[in-house]
Amino acid sequence: MEHITTPSWAMLAYLASGVLFILALRGLSSPASSRAGNRYGIIGMVIAVVTTLVVHFPMVREEKVPPGPNFPDGSFIFLPDFASFGEILAAIAIGGLIGWVTAKRIQMTDMPQLVAAFHSLVGMAAVLVGLAAYLNPDAFGIATGGIIEPQSRVEMGLGIAIGAITFSGSVIAFLKLAGKMSGAPIILPLRHVINLGTLAAILGLTVYFTQDQSLWVIATVTALAFVIGFLLIIPIGGADMPVVVSMLNSYSGWAAAAMGFTLHNTAMIITGALVGSSGAILSYIMCRAMNRSFISVIAGGFGAEAGAGGGEAREQRPYKTGSAADAAFMLEQAEKVIVIPGYGMAVAQAQHALREMTDILEEKGVEVKFAIHPVAGRMPGHMNVLLAEAQVSYDKVFELEDINSEFAQCDVAFIIGANDVVNPAAKTDKSSPIYGMPVFDVDKAKQVFFIKRSMGGVGYAGVDNDVFYMDQTMMLLADAKKMVEEIVKALD
Ligand code: TAP
Repeated sequence: MEHITTPSWAMLAYLASGVLFILALRGLSSPASSRAGNRYGIIGMVIAVVTTLVVHFPMVREEKVPPGPNFPDGSFIFLPDFASFGEILAAIAIGGLIGWVTAKRIQMTDMPQLVAAFHSLVGMAAVLVGLAAYLNPDAFGIATGGIIEPQSRVEMGLGIAIGAITFSGSVIAFLKLAGKMSGAPIILPLRHVINLGTLAAILGLTVYFTQDQSLWVIATVTALAFVIGFLLIIPIGGADMPVVVSMLNSYSGWAAAAMGFTLHNTAMIITGALVGSSGAILSYIMCRAMNRSFISVIAGGFGAEAGAGGGEAREQRPYKTGSAADAAFMLEQAEKVIVIPGYGMAVAQAQHALREMTDILEEKGVEVKFAIHPVAGRMPGHMNVLLAEAQVSYDKVFELEDINSEFAQCDVAFIIGANDVVNPAAKTDKSSPIYGMPVFDVDKAKQVFFIKRSMGGVGYAGVDNDVFYMDQTMMLLADAKKMVEEIVKALD
């Protein structure tokens, strides 16, 4: 069977969708341009899907069928390329409906696990496409007389392996982020030996697959890849989860790119490579923000100690609590306030009340700035999205490295639903699971307000926080939205 050749107009259309995807990534790099970026992405995807359908559907192939009741002489018939239009439209309708309902119903706080779930679907799609191409290589134009070309066998083996790793890794990430599985690292004995051995077996079998096209070879590669995806993610926990999410994003891109080679689909190769490389760059940025080495995170808990993190025993220490009226009084007196939002602000959906509070303070002549940690919340850019939704002006929002030196000159550090990102254990306690992560120097502020619901709750990494017990800290124990609304009332 010949390779499927793509007409030049379709190549141009794929190029256009590739350019639109690049513009989408560019747009998504800033909250101000993210809506435009999203639109470019949607248009690019529509062009790519429609082009693929148009290229493949009118194309009919001449096939000789074996003699049978309908074709006693083994007549020539024309077959559509992959499937019937009806099947494709039904698949688009079902997938589109699930995506639409999910997008409508999903809470902002559940986005990270949704992203992990979507990555698992990309991984599984790559595995299924790869296995379909193995079972019917002639339909994919990658074989002659049922013998798959060696180059296609390598693409198939790698695509299936990366897809399977993405699938099982993303399922574990989903369970950890959704709180259905402990977020703490699960450390197996001899895990590095097991991981390296499994990876070597996958690569060795993929090479062997070029010589022997037997089903057992590709089936073993698939099974081992499912296992290694699981093994790589279970030892990663606590504060390293953001890197896992972006890393799996990158893997899903490479799986799609490998399948693009198998299917001879340029748009898939471009899209996969864009997702793969942008995910890898994001993982690198996250690692730098967390002061972690990329290799140590992807190798699965290198340096993580068994039992690290996860709800250690809390000692009883004295702390001060206050009311909304106390906080309002002190905020009014301040000249400069730095707000540090975290995951709890997202849970409480307190961003609109917070914006109202900052408007009133500014009217009263108080300077208010927002300090955003790169891993605050549960997904990259989580806090930026929420503040943008509440129409907080971008010029008041600062990254960690740009604002950290200002705490020494600020009157109030206003911590709302953040915890790990202000925990000084990251600087001082080598045994802490967040050790090495840069954190806000809130201890340098004259006064600290700390909004959380109770003293019992911990941050994502599950560790106690010395900031609760500092002389200048006042704990404001309540739901973040309720507390800020009461502060607004008291300020009025
Ligand atoms: P966390 O350390 O997770 O702390 C959240 C705080 O919010 C807790 O103190 C919690 O205490 C409080 N809270 C929860 N619901 C609240 C509500 N309704 N009202 C008021 N307070 C509430 O948050 P963070 O400082 O943003 O740190 C993020 C952590 O998540 C880091 O460890 C990071 O590594 C990890 N992580 C990040 C990502 C990305 S990409 N950003 C992805 C996965 C994991 P109470 O329960 O007592 O209220």
